[in-house]
Amino acid sequence: MLSFSPPVSLYAMPVTLGTMASPLKSLVIDDNRYQEAFHLFLERSSEHQCMRDFIQKKLPDILASIGDGKSQLNVIGVGSGAGEIDLEMLSELHQKHPKVMVDNEVVEPSSQQLHNYKVLVSQKPELNYAKFTWNKMTASEFEEQWKLKKMTKKADFIHMIQMLYYVKDPGATISFFQSLLDKNGKILIILVSGASGWGKLWRTYRTQLCNTEISQCVTTGDIKSFLDSKGVNYQSYELLSQMDITECFTEGDRKGELLLDFLTEALNFSKTASPELKAGVLKLLRHPDCSVEDKGRVIFNNNLGVIVIDQQT
Ligand SMILES: C[S@@+](CC[C@H](N)C(=O)[O-])C[C@H]1O[C@@H](n2cnc3c(N)ncnc32)[C@H](O)[C@@H]1O
Repeated sequence: MLSFSPPVSLYAMPVTLGTMASPLKSLVIDDNRYQEAFHLFLERSSEHQCMRDFIQKKLPDILASIGDGKSQLNVIGVGSGAGEIDLEMLSELHQKHPKVMVDNEVVEPSSQQLHNYKVLVSQKPELNYAKFTWNKMTASEFEEQWKLKKMTKKADFIHMIQMLYYVKDPGATISFFQSLLDKNGKILIILVSGASGWGKLWRTYRTQLCNTEISQCVTTGDIKSFLDSKGVNYQSYELLSQMDITECFTEGDRKGELLLDFLTEALNFSKTASPELKAGVLKLLRHPDCSVEDKGRVIFNNNLGVIVIDQQT
């Protein structure tokens, strides 16, 4: 299921998850708590490490053919966060195409994240081959502006890393960015894998956890089905990743509660979910379908999926 309505801006009014009876609110409405939970998730997981491995080992070959000999490469990063992963990719791009300039459009609605990204760039003088354009907006606002300004610029590399959960219609978002691809251009999408613990959690508790207009439970499995239905060719990869969720099982543990918020995408899940839902989610999280137990730690399957779409000729 890739299409939802009606549209709601990420930082708009509080939106409740689930049916009228559900008291759950989306974590995303509280940007501070969301960012805190996301940072803790990065600390407790191998999320960025597995992306870095992919970026260093596989991405260079993927990037080798883009650009078609041009002297400038146009890149668009959508939902870039603080830019750590974007800059790793830019570095690989530069190594593959050392003589070209890079025009990098950053699309990111969080001012805090955009600020952190700018600080990171300012600390790296070696990025003198890249020009940054900062778009403090959502993907759909970017699309709207692009169309309004009748932009004709084409892109050689577009990436959307762990962000398609936050758009109203992931399929339409992919189709728009596909339309911007230049000859030999590529789109890179990373989301949780359908075969991860996330996939199992979302399939089991879809009505309770995924019934929201501002964040949704989409995996690379869903994106592949969408692309297959449109006859779009793509390559895909699975990245092994883990997340230590042990603290989630200590009642009242602040970090455990933050991680639980991140896992359920619900604000203060521990305090606002019904006792049945909370018990069910906690039981499933440590079930072998989602996690393994190792030396007293509960290790959640955080495997990611990567999809690479070429400009279709
Ligand atoms: C999970 S973070 C991923 C950040 C980064 N790509 C990474 O992997 O570290 C999701 C990012 O998407 C941004 N975001 C949320 N809604 C968005 C939207 N509608 N359009 C574009 N970006 C969005 C958030 O502000 C956040 O920085």
